[in-house]
Amino acid sequence: MLILKDVVKTFKGFTLRVDYLEIPDGRYVVVLGPSGSGKTTLLRLIAGLERPDGGSVVLDGRDVTNLPVWERDVGIVFQSYALYPHLTVFDNIAMPLKNKRLPKPEIRRRVEEIAVVLNIADQLHKYPHQLSGGQQQRVAIARALVKEPKVLLLDEPLSNLDARLRLEVRGFLKELQRRLHATVLHVTHDQEEAMALGDLLVVINNGRIEQVGPPDELYARPKSLFVFQFLGLSNLVPAKLVGLGEGLVGFRPEDVALGEGDHRAKVLREEYLGPYKLYELDFNGVRIKARAPPTAAFREGDVVQFSIDVKKALRF
Ligand SMILES: Nc1ncnc2c1ncn2[C@@H]1O[C@H](COP(=O)(O)OP(=O)(O)OP(=O)(O)O)[C@@H](O)[C@H]1O
Ligand SMILES: [Mg+2]
Repeated sequence: MLILKDVVKTFKGFTLRVDYLEIPDGRYVVVLGPSGSGKTTLLRLIAGLERPDGGSVVLDGRDVTNLPVWERDVGIVFQSYALYPHLTVFDNIAMPLKNKRLPKPEIRRRVEEIAVVLNIADQLHKYPHQLSGGQQQRVAIARALVKEPKVLLLDEPLSNLDARLRLEVRGFLKELQRRLHATVLHVTHDQEEAMALGDLLVVINNGRIEQVGPPDELYARPKSLFVFQFLGLSNLVPAKLVGLGEGLVGFRPEDVALGEGDHRAKVLREEYLGPYKLYELDFNGVRIKARAPPTAAFREGDVVQFSIDVKKALRF
């Protein structure tokens, strides 16, 4: 288990502060937050590429706060892959084992083994520039995994891939993590990627952890307006508009039922998205989104009745 306690790291104009964060063994943990929120800094602190100004990083009961990166049992995949261009795939993957001065036959065995797992066994003789983006990605993952680290740290590992490949490698990462029972800490700013992969999400905003929990819990019971609006589509309206008193009320597009109910709104726009339609509506001057079956036939300009599932509404 990885634990961060009272960790503080300050750069000019930015402070990352983690009072307490526990990364359980064998889980896929995703750190989610907007650009500049401190995700990479958090990963670098865990990796040992950055020293905190205060607090401690504990890995399996051992305080590693002041240990350099090579003495921590972590594997890292950087956003840019950072493969050595002048080395073959084999030598790229073998590098961490060579640094550990393992015997050559063992290095060969382990590189070939991990290459099979990552489906790049037939690419070992090539150079990085001879590989597709997805293959390079897997080489970077193989290199991080080959020394069998306690924790695998992935910084936006899918961001350089096209949409289709991203989905493919995404599924692959999760299956690999399950197969190896690895502890993964995956950083992304993509909420869909985070929800799809994470057993546990850590939502970070402006250097602070906003909430930690399974994706369905964060989606249904966000503790802050930030978490509510960062995960999925959301609506926010003055509570008095929906007869719920003071303050603001949040609800999801799928918790709006169009066609009947006490409220009225004007259809501004319709999007057909295959399994469903998404409507954008003007509700007394506030824009809201509503989800409807693909067969719904409301038109732009129509005034429609609707209701909100108030049991699922959130107060802010
Ligand atoms: N070495 C550094 N020196 C000074 N400021 C830094 C340094 N590293 C990060 N920062 C600042 O810390 C803040 C958080 O940066 P970080 O890279 O952790 O964000 P991020 O969440 O990974 O963002 P992104 O999604 O864009 O990668 C930013 O304001 C950044 O400018
Ligand atoms: Mg980053």
